[in-house]
Amino acid sequence: MKFLLGLLVGILIVPAVLYVYLQSGSAPAAATDAPMPFEKILARGSLHARIEREHPNKDVAQFTNPQLIEGADVYQKNCAFCHGLPQQPQSAASKGMYPSAPQLFTQDGTVTDDPVGETYWKVKNGIRLTGMPSFGAALSEDQMWNVSALVARADKLAPEVLTELKPLPDLSSPVPAMPLGPNVPPAVAPAQHPVVPAPSGAAQPAPPTPR
Ligand code: HEC
Repeated sequence: MKFLLGLLVGILIVPAVLYVYLQSGSAPAAATDAPMPFEKILARGSLHARIEREHPNKDVAQFTNPQLIEGADVYQKNCAFCHGLPQQPQSAASKGMYPSAPQLFTQDGTVTDDPVGETYWKVKNGIRLTGMPSFGAALSEDQMWNVSALVARADKLAPEVLTELKPLPDLSSPVPAMPLGPNVPPAVAPAQHPVVPAPSGAAQPAPPTPR
């Protein structure tokens, strides 16, 4: 009886302490807080095993420059915001994330040692409890492979691929209006524009009659 009581108290005490800890406000909740005890183990415990089990593979050397250029375009539009561009300062967003987003074109952040299939798995599925999104629904298979090959070969890219990774113009500063596509009607239809002079010979407004 005593043993059972002890067991019951033992079982109840763990969630009770956990509850008090979470309610106390000292558990990490902000992205900038230090990790909770065991948080990393819990979040990452199965990641590597899962990737090992599931990731497909390709020879990264088989990707051609046109494919890498397409990968660079995908990267500019979907990844650079968090993972940065070659020779560029780290973005504000990537500095404030927990866990932080590795800068894939820097010595410390590069994934050139990982098999390209592992990176493809991460791009397709995302990484749980981190800011790394899953792109499986947003990008095509080819786009995911090409962008994965791009970052897997980050240290060996040809100049024509690197050109595609130049920073885009800063949209936060005043810039001329963006050109409209061919199907977008102009804001003011030219035919109705009042500054067009009337063709000569057309009826002129009558001059004011002298008194
Ligand atoms: C909103 C921010 C964000 C975007 C956008 C994003 N990522 Fe990530 N990514 C992260 C974060 C944060 C991590 C770190 C996760 C971790 O610590 O395990 C990460 C991890 C990775 C890793 C693993 C790095 C390593 O060292 O193992 C790869 C590869 C990667 N991202 C590629 C991409 C690619 C390619 C794209 C675009 C298709 C992309 N990411 C878009 C935030 C982002």
